[in-house]
Amino acid sequence: MREVVIRKPDDFHLHLRDGDLLKLVAPVAAKHFARALVMPNLDPPVVTMADALNYRERILQSLPGMLSFTPLMTLYLTDNTDAGDVERAIEENVIRAVKLYPAGATTNARHGVTDYTGIGDVLRVLSGAGTPLCVHGEDPDPRTDIFDREGVFITGPLQRIRDAHPDLKIVLEHITTREAVAYVRAHRTRTAATITAHHLVLNRNDILAGGIRPHNYCLPVAKREEHRQTLMAAAVSGDACFFLGTDSAPHDRIRKESSCGCAGIFTSPVTMPLLAGLFEDAGALDRLEAFVAGFGSEFYGLEPNSGTIRLHKTGPYQPPGLIRDQVHTVVVFDPGHPLTWQVET
Ligand code: NCD
Ligand code: ZN
Repeated sequence: MREVVIRKPDDFHLHLRDGDLLKLVAPVAAKHFARALVMPNLDPPVVTMADALNYRERILQSLPGMLSFTPLMTLYLTDNTDAGDVERAIEENVIRAVKLYPAGATTNARHGVTDYTGIGDVLRVLSGAGTPLCVHGEDPDPRTDIFDREGVFITGPLQRIRDAHPDLKIVLEHITTREAVAYVRAHRTRTAATITAHHLVLNRNDILAGGIRPHNYCLPVAKREEHRQTLMAAAVSGDACFFLGTDSAPHDRIRKESSCGCAGIFTSPVTMPLLAGLFEDAGALDRLEAFVAGFGSEFYGLEPNSGTIRLHKTGPYQPPGLIRDQVHTVVVFDPGHPLTWQVET
């Protein structure tokens, strides 16, 4: 039996939702992760410092006493965001990032940004404070092919933001393409990217070939196999500009298994076992710790976590299938092969 002990991981992109669903999924994330950057795309979204303080309180209340977990809060950038409020939220350590959703790009993104020339004041505040702008990097124009949305966003709006704000720290979230990997490497002094576990195993055939698999559908949508391989190489490269953000995004089963199923894959329970197997197969288990518990906190200017988790190799086992309470049933990501590592908790 092989064992690996690593620093307790951080998840730099997590959807915790609200209400009963928050109570169901927050303890699951807190089992394996010490901290998570919590996405603000609630309905209505987390727009102001007051919203973030209230949401943080609801998250902490959703966790049983024995679980120690720090939610790192974000604000949802709109065309009308008040730069002064963002500045106060940073000064008072309420938020660690601001999230840019191009309007309409993904789940609950309709309040997102429509006019990039209008967000200059907020971006100047972020630059001055060294606080990252997290970007959902997809062009939402319905005329843009869904498989090209990331590339179109990078060469268009992202490049313009970068040119106008050379000192701004930018995290390109949940990257899915060779072009994104190359862009981040080329701009690495102030740019980083999160990579999810599911984008390391899925290509677009896993969504569409042999039947539609709604539980493999998320945004950005998984791309061709060659892109998946590039992402895998980036994740195990030991380059500090790539780190884990799971984008674990729970939705009710009924909303996924539908004639218009929504985007988002719930990965929190399987991310760490899955990553251990993937890094082992790549001969890079020694680089897992930096990917999940080093490079992200470094980019965000946070101390690394002090606790550890122990992963051990087991016989092959099936992922948990689903989690549920009286109201919600959420299907857990199935990578399509048995898992072989377990986290000791
Ligand atoms: C996320 C969600 O459901 O909130 N969905 C997804 O497919 N990733 C939103 C997002 O991060 O795009
Ligand atoms: Zn997300």
